[in-house]
Amino acid sequence: MSVSDNHILVERPEAQPGVMVIRFNRPEKKNAITSAMYNRMTAALEEANRDDAVRAVAFLGTEGCFSAGNDMGDFLAYAMSGSTEAPAAAVFIKALALAEKPLVSGVDGLAIGIGTTLNMHCDLTVASARSVFKTPFVDLALVPEAASSLLAPKSIGHQRAFAMLVAGEGFSAQAALDAGLIWKIVEPQAVEAETLALAASLASKPPQALKIARDLVRGPREAVLARIDEELVHFSAQLKSAEARAAFEAFMRR
Ligand code: COA
Repeated sequence: MSVSDNHILVERPEAQPGVMVIRFNRPEKKNAITSAMYNRMTAALEEANRDDAVRAVAFLGTEGCFSAGNDMGDFLAYAMSGSTEAPAAAVFIKALALAEKPLVSGVDGLAIGIGTTLNMHCDLTVASARSVFKTPFVDLALVPEAASSLLAPKSIGHQRAFAMLVAGEGFSAQAALDAGLIWKIVEPQAVEAETLALAASLASKPPQALKIARDLVRGPREAVLARIDEELVHFSAQLKSAEARAAFEAFMRR
């Protein structure tokens, strides 16, 4: 197992049969996500689709931090690379949108960028009161991703989606709950147990009915996939812009 493999832990806890846990485990970098970490998560989601023994997937972070979003060093490297390949993040985002099993997430603390938008693909999100959801895309000279420009206005309305995705306003857990972005708030030390309990409860339900019900509630995926592609055109172009490079370099220089 390489070092970067340890930054994402994929577990199947014995106490919660049928549950796959995907855990951000890079606390020293606030669980910022590198290409290797996206690739590991994509592989895990594909494994969950294929394996009948997996009936629900739970995303978790570490104490006080879900994820600080995309690794800034990776953003900068991609911006300088001249690569025209789809970034690993884009492949992961599509895997998220195509996930066949219910997705739940447990957020304690920072949830930035994709650390926020990932939850928009989850069916249930539990968060501690000290959590903050924030997407500073435009401040970094980027644009919304992960179909958040479609999913957020639909679930929380234009003004709140604009405040979050364009103005870059942080949402407290309470604001996220009021907006309908998350399912419930619990004590920090209960985030993990509550998330796993929700996943285990889903995993214990009749799988076929669960799948049909989930698909009906979520609706067709085509529009979500199309929006991911549309955002990606702009996101990739902006990543390589002088204004974005200046923002990444400013972060790296701090
Ligand atoms: N990419 C790469 N490294 C990151 C990171 C990111 N997105 N977020 C945090 N880190 C690193 C810091 O560089 C620092 O590393 P160092 O100890 O080697 O210097 C370490 O994680 C701790 O972060 P630090 O900034 O010291 O912690 P903080 O509590 O003062 O602030 C944040 C935490 C998350 C508010 C701040 O790190 C931040 O703004 N990160 C960028 C978030 C972001 O914009 N993500 C992209 C969204 S599209």
